Parts: sequence; structure tokens; C-alpha cells
Amino acid sequence: MVYKFAIEELMTKLRILSEEFDFAHRHDPIEHISSRVKRPEAIGQKLRRRGLATDAGTITEQLDDIAGVRVVCPFLSDVYHVARMLTGQDDVELVRSKDYVANPKDNGYRSLHLIVRIPVFLSDRVEKVKVEVQLRTIAMDFWATLEHKLFYKYTDQLPEDFAGELASTAVVAAQLDTRMQQLHERMRGTSNLVAPL
Ligand code: GTP
Ligand code: MG
Repeated sequence: MVYKFAIEELMTKLRILSEEFDFAHRHDPIEHISSRVKRPEAIGQKLRRRGLATDAGTITEQLDDIAGVRVVCPFLSDVYHVARMLTGQDDVELVRSKDYVANPKDNGYRSLHLIVRIPVFLSDRVEKVKVEVQLRTIAMDFWATLEHKLFYKYTDQLPEDFAGELASTAVVAAQLDTRMQQLHERMRGTSNLVAPL
């Protein structure tokens, strides 16, 4: 239950940032947000795959992605803007970040992953709950969604030509992001790029 509450808190934070940033800067940095709590079967599978025990303590300590929030942004600069605004909040603790935008995975996957810890206030205690936040552009989301559909059930190493073709589609998506970012900056007459975390 605490994971559901943590997601609700985080979604509220993101909705506030989206609406207030839009009001202050006439640009909404968030296109859409989705979330999920990892299913018990998926939690069990991951623990088994990693050879971990299945008690509650191990689950909360070892798994960072039981609560997951995905933030899809229009432009590249928005990804880092939203990440900075969120992790800059007093009650949001940044546990770890993986910048697959600056350093894409070998298959071409790009996204900014943050593990944050936020307090959830319950009737008799406060629980600090970890949430995995994935931030990406529409182009990154397009690529990741289709890659997942194409290869989700595929466990072997991809044939060379598939892997190469897949990685090159990711380059095209990245080029689209760069070009759209340039148009965005020209329209706004300023450079919006924020340094990576
Ligand atoms: P997991 O065991 O999958 O959680 O990997 P990890 O702990 O090394 O974390 P990582 O940050 O690499 O990936 C976590 C999540 O990012 C995954 O559950 C996916 O939602 C997403 N992701 C990572 N790599 C890929 C990829 O190659 N393709 C797609 N479509 N999604 C990915
Ligand atoms: Mg995961």
C-alpha cells in the first residue's frame, strides 16, 4: 500500500510542476505521466533471478522499482528540467541516477532513470519509500515502447542484423530530439539546455 501512496504523492508533485511551470514559463514540460506498482509475480521473478530471499525486508532494501513512474516530456531540455525541479525538493531524496540519455544502452535505449526516496505519512509512522522515475522524450518513449513490443519475449542474443537495425532506429529518434530541441530553442529565443544531473 505504501508504494501506491508514494506514487500518488509523486504524481501530485509532477502535476504541480507541470501546471505551474506552464503558467510561469508558458511551456508545459510534461506531456504525460504513467505509473505502476510492480505485480507480486514480477517481484517474485526478479528476486529469484537475482538469487535473493523473498522476505519483506529484502524486497524493500533490494528492489528499487516496485513503485514506478514514467514521465514523458516534449523536449530534451524538459527531461533535465523536470529531473532538477523534482530532486531539488526538500522531501525528495535522490538515491541514484542512471543517465541513459547521455550514455545510451548498447541496444540504443535512452531515458533518464532516477531512484528517489520520499516520505509517506501514515497514521502512526512515516515511511520512506523508494520510487523509480523514468524520464524520457516522446521520441525516446516511442522507441522504448516499440522495442519492448518487438523483443519483450525474446531472451536470446538478438541476431546481428536485428541489433544493428534496432540501434540505428534509436539514432534516428535521437536525431529527431536534437532537431526538435533546436526548433524549440529558436522559437523561445534562448538556450534551454540544462546540464545533466
Ligand atoms: P531491471 O532489472 O530491468 O530493473 O534493470 P536495472 O535494475 O539494471 O535497471 P535499469 O535502470 O537498467 O532498467 C530499469 C527499467 O528501465 C526497466 O524495467 C525498463 O522499464 C526500462 N528499460 C531498461 N532498459 C530497457 C530497454 O533496453 N528497452 C526498454 N524498452 N526498456 C528498458
Ligand atoms: Mg525494472
